[in-house]
Amino acid sequence: MSGNANIQKIVPFEGSKLSKKEQIATMFDDIAHRYDFLNHFMSLGIDIIWRKKALGYLTSLQPKLMLDVATGTGDFAIMAERRLRPDKIVGIDISEGMLAHGREKIEKLGLGNKITLQSGDSETISFPDKTFDAITVAFGVRNFEHLEKGLSDMRRVLKPGGKLVILEFSNPTVFPIKQLYNLYFRYITPLLGKWIAKSQAAYSYLPESVKAFPQGEAMRTILTNTGFQAVTCKTLTFGICSIYCATR
Ligand SMILES: C[S@@+](CC[C@H](N)C(=O)[O-])C[C@H]1O[C@@H](n2cnc3c(N)ncnc32)[C@H](O)[C@@H]1O
Repeated sequence: MSGNANIQKIVPFEGSKLSKKEQIATMFDDIAHRYDFLNHFMSLGIDIIWRKKALGYLTSLQPKLMLDVATGTGDFAIMAERRLRPDKIVGIDISEGMLAHGREKIEKLGLGNKITLQSGDSETISFPDKTFDAITVAFGVRNFEHLEKGLSDMRRVLKPGGKLVILEFSNPTVFPIKQLYNLYFRYITPLLGKWIAKSQAAYSYLPESVKAFPQGEAMRTILTNTGFQAVTCKTLTFGICSIYCATR
């Protein structure tokens, strides 16, 4: 099964002539100024617990050089620095607006020598083969234009034995969480996005993109077909979020 067929069609600006990638970069540039606040506000802070859990999968590996793909404003990279203490973390993203906010935070925290944020596309990562001990992606893969291409380039830059950890939204299946989640995501999230980030498009795109994204067994199959080994999936908070872990 191709993970891409469905997700490629889900775009923030229906009818736009721009590619999905260009639309995504524009959308995140537009909401960058409110992204951090909305992120934690909409998830009621639970995303912080999910992030900690995901990074826990890398504790035993003790990675020295890490890549945070779709790093956005750098939250996951900052948390990884604090919890895993690698020598260096590079964060890449296609949205200059998100990166600019991230760089400001990193400077303020005095982490400029440990974390570098740079412009970069997950599908054509500008690093040699087998560079990184670990790669992380939080809430990023769902937005890729070509999922398999992104996953396969991440595998390329991972050292043999290195680990990929993906944190991504998924759809809960149990009553009444599924129904409450659908209501919240479908009606409340776009409204909050419109009021706070002045972008209804971004927060209407969010539930659509989650719905279309392959989850659980389907995502495990895609990772395995991309060449990853020991692929695992752990669902969190009634299945609202999933952690995929895979080894090169
Ligand atoms: C929801 S944000 C997640 C940001 C951050 N990882 C976090 O945990 O808060 C998704 C990010 O993915 C980035 N993105 C989407 N497609 C990308 C690609 N092909 N390569 C790199 N970054 C990408 C977007 O620009 C955006 O900043």
